[in-house]
Amino acid sequence: MNTWWQRAVVYQVYPRSFYDSNGDGIGDLNGVRAKLDYIRRLGVDVIWLNPIYKSPNDDNGYDISDYRAIMDEFGTMEDFDRLLAEAHEKGLRIVMDLVVNHTSDEHPWFIESRKSAESPYRDYYIWREGKDGNPPNNWGASFRGSAWERCEETGMYYLHTFSKKQPDLNWENETVRGEVYDLMRFWLDKGIDGFRMDVINYISKTPEMPDGPMMNRLYGNFRPYCLNGPRVHEFLQEMNREVLSHYDVMTVGETPGVSVEQAQRYTGPDEYELNMVFQFAHVNLDYDENGKWTLKRVPLDGLRRVLSEWQTGLHGKGWNSLYLNNHDQPRMVSHFGDDSTEALRSASAKMLGVLMHMMQGTPYVYQGEELGMTNVAFPDISDYRDIDTLNAWNEMTGELGVSPEHMLACIHRRSRDNARTPMQWSAAPNAGFTTGTPWIGVNPNYETINAEAQENDPDSVLCFYRRLIALRRKLPIITEGDYALLLANHPQIFAYQRRWQGQRLYVICSFSAQTFDAPEILPYCGGRLLLCNYVPDGDAQTLRPYEARVYLVEA
Ligand code: NOJ
Repeated sequence: MNTWWQRAVVYQVYPRSFYDSNGDGIGDLNGVRAKLDYIRRLGVDVIWLNPIYKSPNDDNGYDISDYRAIMDEFGTMEDFDRLLAEAHEKGLRIVMDLVVNHTSDEHPWFIESRKSAESPYRDYYIWREGKDGNPPNNWGASFRGSAWERCEETGMYYLHTFSKKQPDLNWENETVRGEVYDLMRFWLDKGIDGFRMDVINYISKTPEMPDGPMMNRLYGNFRPYCLNGPRVHEFLQEMNREVLSHYDVMTVGETPGVSVEQAQRYTGPDEYELNMVFQFAHVNLDYDENGKWTLKRVPLDGLRRVLSEWQTGLHGKGWNSLYLNNHDQPRMVSHFGDDSTEALRSASAKMLGVLMHMMQGTPYVYQGEELGMTNVAFPDISDYRDIDTLNAWNEMTGELGVSPEHMLACIHRRSRDNARTPMQWSAAPNAGFTTGTPWIGVNPNYETINAEAQENDPDSVLCFYRRLIALRRKLPIITEGDYALLLANHPQIFAYQRRWQGQRLYVICSFSAQTFDAPEILPYCGGRLLLCNYVPDGDAQTLRPYEARVYLVEA
């Protein structure tokens, strides 16, 4: 029998954009508390909260200046304690974001560290001498510019794989690791139920730090020297031994660039590291030489190949997390589905839900996904808030010479702000998110796409998600069964089977906006039709636009 986190469904809350309880235009902890019943009605078990710690918000809380205090805009520690207690009373667990690859440059450790080479905190971060008046090597940061910043105080450079306000911690330093374990215990002793660990496979760097292969005309790639580095497994095993093994909690590591083999090590039952990881291969399928800033579409064959590889690769050897979007990704229905008409939006959002939720792993639902919320196309760059988007805009339309029109089109497709527009609660002003001025614009489609409208509409994406999640709870085959891809080369269908104790589950998903005949699915249309995003019409071989069906064949 699987553990609770293998049976669980997680709902991700980005508090800044979820619900504002005090009218300052920014979502907050009391806002999350006010919506606990909504979350519970979905049938999920766990809430993952994006960072809520004290932060100057260079990167919306991923730059932490005090790990033991709450961000001013989000409320107080008393608010947090109340949220945790009420969530637990309602049977919901809470998983926190753990951001320990880097801190804010306003964290007291860094303020001390930068003062002098003799500071007892110097070695908390990664300092190097420059080379001939230039940074120590050619690495570019994830949020553009050099990955090194020079400090006037000593003339030396510190490493920041993200923004220059996010200096990387030095995990080689045992005292740093001890500090991290202490702050983890602080939250675990409050009774939280686990951690989502931010870029946790970045914590061990190759000490030599040579130049990286050029990524564009400007900078080299740090990733070969910083991801899945030489001591990462040792550090995670130590963290597990020192901290995690003493609590009944779940852990999910965010691990960009991870392979199936590496994930087996991070999540294997005998490794004592993490419970599961977020891999990126399927959400990066449309990358090109400009990274995510392209207008390419996700190819179905790639999606099918990657997801199937992860299903079979981790079966019995680790554990998958299942997601198509989060606070860093475009909206699922716009990225992988079809938001061109109301009918196609609704059908494809449900189909994508079926595709992911019937696989093996722990599904993550990102706030608004359950409504089929879509990308936004703000008219002007000044409407955007995300540091990644704004810095990429500056570098690409500046030094790299990309036209502003093209870049804005790419931003409409890929910006992280697509996921960060306020949650659409109702057709009231500002989608019912705030009575004040929202920190980022609301998607204008809130008048039709909102929770209130979907609440009592049995055909809504919301009601469909409730049924989808309930099914996982009822049928062990979904959490335990093995996986095999069906119709592997079909141009429009993603189909697979699950098998467990003589039962079979057949999942058939159309990726076409047209109705078409697919007699090749007939062998899999037996048994009981458990779920379909259309009213069944008895014509098994005809698939309607983005139709999804789940059949169960009993033993
Ligand atoms: C990954 C987080 O999900 C993202 O939002 C953040 O900007 C980076 N890590 C840096 O912490």
